[in-house]
Amino acid sequence: MIRPSTGRNAALLVLEQVERSGAYASISLDRVLAQNVSLSSADRALATELTYGVLRHRTRLDRAVRPHTKRGLKRAHPTVRRVLRLATYQILMLDRIPASAAINEAVAVVKQAVDRRAGGFVNAVLRKVAQQGEPPLPDPARKPAEYLRDAASVPDWMAALILERLGPTDAVALADSLVSRPPLTIRANRLHQEREALVELLAQTHSGVTADLARYAPDGLHLRGAADLRRSTLYEQGRLEIQDEGAQLVGHLVNPGSRDRVLDACAGRGGKTLHLAALAGGPDGLVASDSGAAKLADLGRRAQRAGLKPPERLTADLTAPCPELDQRTFHRVLVDAPCTGLGVVRRHPEAKWRMEPTAPDALVDLQRRLLDRLAPRVRRGGLLVYAVCTFTRAEGPDQVTAFLGRHPDFTPEPPPHHDGVDWNELLDGDGPAVQTLPHRHGCDGFFMVRLRRRGA
Ligand SMILES: C[S@@+](CC[C@H](N)C(=O)[O-])C[C@H]1O[C@@H](n2cnc3c(N)ncnc32)[C@H](O)[C@@H]1O
Repeated sequence: MIRPSTGRNAALLVLEQVERSGAYASISLDRVLAQNVSLSSADRALATELTYGVLRHRTRLDRAVRPHTKRGLKRAHPTVRRVLRLATYQILMLDRIPASAAINEAVAVVKQAVDRRAGGFVNAVLRKVAQQGEPPLPDPARKPAEYLRDAASVPDWMAALILERLGPTDAVALADSLVSRPPLTIRANRLHQEREALVELLAQTHSGVTADLARYAPDGLHLRGAADLRRSTLYEQGRLEIQDEGAQLVGHLVNPGSRDRVLDACAGRGGKTLHLAALAGGPDGLVASDSGAAKLADLGRRAQRAGLKPPERLTADLTAPCPELDQRTFHRVLVDAPCTGLGVVRRHPEAKWRMEPTAPDALVDLQRRLLDRLAPRVRRGGLLVYAVCTFTRAEGPDQVTAFLGRHPDFTPEPPPHHDGVDWNELLDGDGPAVQTLPHRHGCDGFFMVRLRRRGA
């Protein structure tokens, strides 16, 4: 049993939980850090850096270790494998940690958690990694697929989807951005204050934190130097939400009016629901549904913290008939559908190693069934907004083309003009759909489109 008494051991414990119980890295890390209050802020920062670093760069780390092991990493003891990745990340990718410190701690933990022999093995391998560095990386211009796999740690099947959608040059830039640290982006809750006023409040209450205005999302701010934001008074007062700029843009694409009936059909924990309520001036007329009851319960708590009456919530599998919804229609329906999530891999790098190559096909089918079931819930003249946090062709443009073939009463339309967002740089090709991309726009990758139902 590993005790998270240092930043390195805390990361090791999180990596173990992610691998063994399928935990989300972000949730497991939050929990481990919350349970170990004696960890210094430097150790907390190191645990975060190491957890995400190892998950982002896994293939590249394994590639550096492999020449020094006879039987490869796959057959190694799981703790040995994780410790080798963790120490190799420190040796190759962090310049502030001396290799000797990374190696000594790795050996000590393996001796204690496995046995002395395994400790000797780890020592020998890591000393070679420190001496020889990593094998040369493929040339991105000549061998883009190999570069995506070896340098950017993108699984082959995912690399094929990225190359298909973007072509080699853009695919390489995108893959590089997917192993980078994403910005910490927040949304000012406009029911409390505009973002400029929030900048003032942050300056008064958080010394050392700087806030830059987000380029596209009118309520967005990028923060630097902020730690443990969820424990801050401003967060507890519901003045801000932690939300990527791409995710915020989905709310602006829906752009609900104060009298609209709005269905947020895959509301989850309510990241976008809360934004829709803020944009509409309150939660009246808003229905949040999801198949996950626990997520909707969380949504209710989050709404209260944000100073909102919780919206009407409905737990339902929306691919099946739903008596509570089937007689109702809405001015706006948001389908923020389950997807491959390639656009948020910077924030959830474990997804790369968890998802099966067959997952995209199953997700495309689920998205299609959700869209078909929800289309009749849009009143005539109303709006269906389809969004996914990914950039594959099958889940984005091809899904929409197929939907329009089955539902000739819907027409795609450009984003709205009147909400302070400059959509021009965000359009997918000539539009009218929007595709944000981390390497171009700095935010997570979201595909989103407005589909207007014809009629009065
Ligand atoms: C991309 S997530 C939604 C994220 C959320 N809108 C937010 O902003 O935080 C997709 C959601 O679809 C839900 N979902 C998956 N299958 C579903 C189904 N058959 N019916 C209803 N919801 C479903 C999942 O539980 C998940 O919360």
